[in-house]
Amino acid sequence: MDNLDALKSEISDQVAAAADLDALEQARIAALGKKGRITEMMKGLGQMSPDERKTAGQALNALKSDINAAIEARKSELEGADIDARLAAERIDVTLPARPESTGAVHPISQTVEEVISIFGEMGFSVAEGPDMEEDWYNFTALNIPPDHPARQEHDTFYVNAEKDGQRMVLRTHTSPVQIRTMQVQKPPIRIIVPGRTYRCDHDATHSPMFHQVEGLLIDETTHMGHLKGCLNDFCRAFFGLGELPVRFRPSYFPFTEPSAEVDIGCSFEGGTLKIGDGDDWLEILGSGMVNPLVLENCGIDSTKYQGFAFGMGIERLAMLKYGIPDLRTFFDSDLRWLRHYGFASLDVPSLVGRASPTRNSP
Ligand code: PHE
Repeated sequence: MDNLDALKSEISDQVAAAADLDALEQARIAALGKKGRITEMMKGLGQMSPDERKTAGQALNALKSDINAAIEARKSELEGADIDARLAAERIDVTLPARPESTGAVHPISQTVEEVISIFGEMGFSVAEGPDMEEDWYNFTALNIPPDHPARQEHDTFYVNAEKDGQRMVLRTHTSPVQIRTMQVQKPPIRIIVPGRTYRCDHDATHSPMFHQVEGLLIDETTHMGHLKGCLNDFCRAFFGLGELPVRFRPSYFPFTEPSAEVDIGCSFEGGTLKIGDGDDWLEILGSGMVNPLVLENCGIDSTKYQGFAFGMGIERLAMLKYGIPDLRTFFDSDLRWLRHYGFASLDVPSLVGRASPTRNSP
């Protein structure tokens, strides 16, 4: 008990010398732990006389609280140093320029398909799909294009080395076979829109062996040519964002529609630049017609009760016209500079109720 001052300065030195929180904890245990030096001395109080115990007890308690205070002080010093070290090591320079993030762009084909779907979606059409590799019967025969029909020659068909139930397979030349597949499984009324890939053996600035179409089909009891005209009129005006766009229905021929009409929109070519909606020129944008009763019967639909209309349009052509893309082949070059230029920041779609047109990703 005599040399408490010496003990105090010895332990205080150890506490002060602790280089980190671990070393400090070791020093604490050595002094105040279960078998620590001060704890052992406390145990000795029991053998003392009451007077001795009183004095020694007070002195030991004072020593204990001094050491505790020294430990706390050293602890906050070490913790402060720890934070300072982390702050120095993890220093962030907020003035540095951000690392470039590469953002993707929506391909004009995807954008255009979404636009078309959204406009027809508001008219109550839902999306249907079919296979790219199609049976001859669905692609041609059921659509009133029998094997010897001259329209087969116009389709530049890719024939596939495969057969199904003795039938030759083709890469579908249009999305019209999905009309047949839908009418086989769905009872009228039918309102579908069919986006998808189509294939023809053709390759130049305006043709690609793989391209995209959107097909439309509506079947009901009272459908007539006026519905076809109204529907496609509204579509053309919503798609091009021009409320006054002139739309012309020109007589045409498709084996699967009767009567058939090609749809043109008004435009001008002044000074070599195309302007949609103005002037006295016309641009063909889609094929359409009243569904041929023979096609309805091929699908088991009573043509004396039901009538309908159908239409089909090329997506690349719509995108080229709306977004001023000059060469069809560039759509499929996978050139990222092209995609950055013609792509879209996010899917934003026009609507019949006059929302703003989508914006280009880059100027
Ligand atoms: N399938 C025709 C084509 O590819 C387009 C079309 C679809 C025409 C539906 C009329 C009705 O050219």
